[in-house]
Amino acid sequence: MLLTYANLTIANSAPYNQDYRDIYYQPQNGFEESNHTFIHANHLPQRFANLHAGQAFCIGEIGFGSGLNALNTIDHFLRHARSQSHLHYCSVEKHPIELNTLKTLHQNWCQPQIRAQLYQQYPHNHSGIHTLHLHPRIHLHLLLGDAHDLLPQLHAKIDAWYLDGFAPQQKPPMLASPPICPYCAHQPPHHHPLQL
Ligand SMILES: C[S@@+](CC[C@H](N)C(=O)[O-])C[C@H]1O[C@@H](n2cnc3c(N)ncnc32)[C@H](O)[C@@H]1O
Repeated sequence: MLLTYANLTIANSAPYNQDYRDIYYQPQNGFEESNHTFIHANHLPQRFANLHAGQAFCIGEIGFGSGLNALNTIDHFLRHARSQSHLHYCSVEKHPIELNTLKTLHQNWCQPQIRAQLYQQYPHNHSGIHTLHLHPRIHLHLLLGDAHDLLPQLHAKIDAWYLDGFAPQQKPPMLASPPICPYCAHQPPHHHPLQL
């Protein structure tokens, strides 16, 4: 099934969603915001550095959007984690951004080789679960469709959640924390790293 692409405009080099009437990230300082809200709030540099060889770290995100959080997290992982550890980044997205728009937004962003792999393997607007191997140690699992349908199918031990939906007061109503939190709470403590 084909999903409806995001209906967005670009203002101050940052995307704005016309349907949800909301921004994806703060214009001018999206990476600082991502560092503060997700990377450091989850103590990721330290947790990445503590991974042993062969160990995997799994992140779950609601709202892949532009991929800013994903690319920023990958950048931190490659700088802090020991070689032979792996990152599984599971991100759900209902309205993917068109590839050409994504490339425009990404100009001068970090990790050009990872981005090149993302563009090459991008599933566009095809619904379903797509695994993109962006690097021998980086596995991006894009769950394209509605979070309420797809998250119950994600059987993974998530080490850190990024709840990055649009603001709940936006129209149409967006995902807020309450309907999503059960997915965090119901995970068994010892589970295989990833079973998609
Ligand atoms: C604030 S933006 C996410 C920004 C993103 N993390 C980034 O790094 O650019 C919110 C995202 O949630 C997505 N979204 C909205 N409703 C959704 C739903 N029901 N299921 C999955 N994704 C949804 C939107 O399409 C949008 O891309």
